[in-house]
Amino acid sequence: MNVLVVGSGIAGLTAALHAQEAGHAVTVVTKGELGDGSTGYAQGGVAGVYGAGDSAEQHAADTVAAGAGLSDVAAVDALVADGAERIAELISRGVAFDRDADGVLMLGREAAHSHSRIVHAGGDATGAAISRAFVAAVRRSPILVIEHAFVTELIATGGAVRGIRLLIDDASAPASASALSADAVILATGGAGHLYAHTTNPAGTTGDGIAAALRAGAAVDDLEFVQFHPTILATGAAFLISEAVRGEGATLIDDDGRRFVFDSHPDGELAPRDVVSRAIARRAAAQGAPVRLDATMLGRETLARRFPTIDRVTRERGFDWSTEPIPVTPAAHYLMGGVVTDLHGRSTIPGLFAVGEVARTGVHGANRLASNSLLEGAVFGARAAAALGEPWPDSPSLSAPYPRDPAPASREYRDGNERAPFTRAALQKLMWDHVGLLRSDEGLRYALDTLRAWRAAATEPRTVAQHEDANLLLLAEATASAALARTGSVGAHYRLSDAEIRTTAPILETV
Ligand code: SIN
Repeated sequence: MNVLVVGSGIAGLTAALHAQEAGHAVTVVTKGELGDGSTGYAQGGVAGVYGAGDSAEQHAADTVAAGAGLSDVAAVDALVADGAERIAELISRGVAFDRDADGVLMLGREAAHSHSRIVHAGGDATGAAISRAFVAAVRRSPILVIEHAFVTELIATGGAVRGIRLLIDDASAPASASALSADAVILATGGAGHLYAHTTNPAGTTGDGIAAALRAGAAVDDLEFVQFHPTILATGAAFLISEAVRGEGATLIDDDGRRFVFDSHPDGELAPRDVVSRAIARRAAAQGAPVRLDATMLGRETLARRFPTIDRVTRERGFDWSTEPIPVTPAAHYLMGGVVTDLHGRSTIPGLFAVGEVARTGVHGANRLASNSLLEGAVFGARAAAALGEPWPDSPSLSAPYPRDPAPASREYRDGNERAPFTRAALQKLMWDHVGLLRSDEGLRYALDTLRAWRAAATEPRTVAQHEDANLLLLAEATASAALARTGSVGAHYRLSDAEIRTTAPILETV
C-alpha cells in the first residue's frame, strides 16, 4: 500500500517505520523538520516497566483512576499489554534509558502512579533521546520524507480518505500548493496547546490534524478535556518542571511554607495533575503570587545529575533551585480528546488513521496519567501500521457530534463588552480566560459567541499562518462547545459557578 504519515513525533515515526518494515511504501510529511513537535520536548519518561510488586493490571488501574473513570478500558488494556514490547523496541532502536551501576533500568515515580514504573533517558531529556533515535532510523530507511509541508485538507472521495492537500513552505521559494494520493493516511500531528496563551507545547502545535479531520467529517470527541501541567516555571517563556521532580520528593509550598495540596487530596503533590493544577491556581489566587516548588532537599548534585535540562534552564533564568524554592504555575499541556479511533488507530472515515495526541483512543479519559503519552504514541503507532490493508470496521459509537450547543452568549457579556477583533493572541487569551483550567457557564457562552463571530468574519486562508489560525478557530469553537455541553465537573474539565470564577480568575494572569 501507499501510506502517508503526517507528523514526525513518536507516534508518526513508529507507524512509519512499522509500515515500511512490513513492506508498504511510506511517505512522511511534516510541518517543520523531521522530529520537530512535542515528542522532543518530553522531559518525563515512558511508563510501563513493572518492578517488584507492580503489574500491567496496576498500571491499567492507575490510568483509569487518573482518567476519572472515563477511560475506555479496552484501549487501556491494549496500552499496558503492548507496553513492554514497545519499550523494548525503543531500546533496540537506540534509546539509552537511564540505568543504575549494575545496568538495571532506573524506575521513576510520577503523580497518580501507585508504583515506580517510569523509564527516563538523559535524566529529563527522554523525548529528545527518542526523537533522535527515531529520526535517525527514518533517515536510514527508504521512507520518503517531505519537510516544511503543511496539510491543508484531507482528500475524501467515495466516502474514504485518499490523500492530502499540501502547502509546501520551506522559505526557499513562495509557498506552493500540491497534493498527494495514498491508500491510507495516518495523522500524527499532535495536539493543540496553542489554543491557549500559556502552553508547554512547541510553536507548531495548532491542532492542524484534528481540524482537517473535523472538516472531512471524521468523529472527534472529548475536546473539553485539556490537561494543564501544574508546574511551569512562572517567569519567561513557558518551561516545564517535570513531575518527576515531585516524584523524587520535591514539595509545593505557599507563602507561609505550607504544603497546601494536601488540603485538596491525600496524595498531596502526587495527586492527579488536574487536582494539583487547580490547587495551585486557587492558592496563588488567594495569596496574590505564584506558589513555589521546593526541591532543595534533593541537593545540588542529585538535581544536576537527575534533571540536567531543568538545572541548566532554571540557572539561566536566575534561580539556584538547590538552595531556593522556585515559582511555578500551570499551563496548557496535553489534549486528551481528538480524532475518535478504535484500538488500531482507525477513525470513523475509511482510510484515515490517527495516532498519538491527535487521536482520542479512549486511553486517557478525562485526564491523562503522567508518562502515558509517549507510550500511547508508540503502542498505537505500531497498532495502526499492523492494521494497514485490513477491512475497515463499522464506526465506533460516539457521543453527540459537534457543535454541541447552539446557545448564544449571555446578555450580560454581550452588552458589557466590546468584542476585540480576531488575532491569534486574542483567541489564546479568550481560551485561557474562559475555556481553561476553571470554567463557568457564562464564560463559556461568552467565549463561544466570540469564537463564532470571529469564524463568521474569517476570510479564506492562504498562508500557513492563516491556515493555522483557521484551525485554531475551528478547534476553539469545538472545544468551547464541548465544554459548555458538559455541565458537570470531571477530571480536567472543571466547572465553577459564575460567581465563584470571578474570585479565582486573577491567577490566570500570574504566569
Ligand atoms: C513531566 O515530565 O512532568 C511531563 C510528562 C508527561 O506529560 O507525561
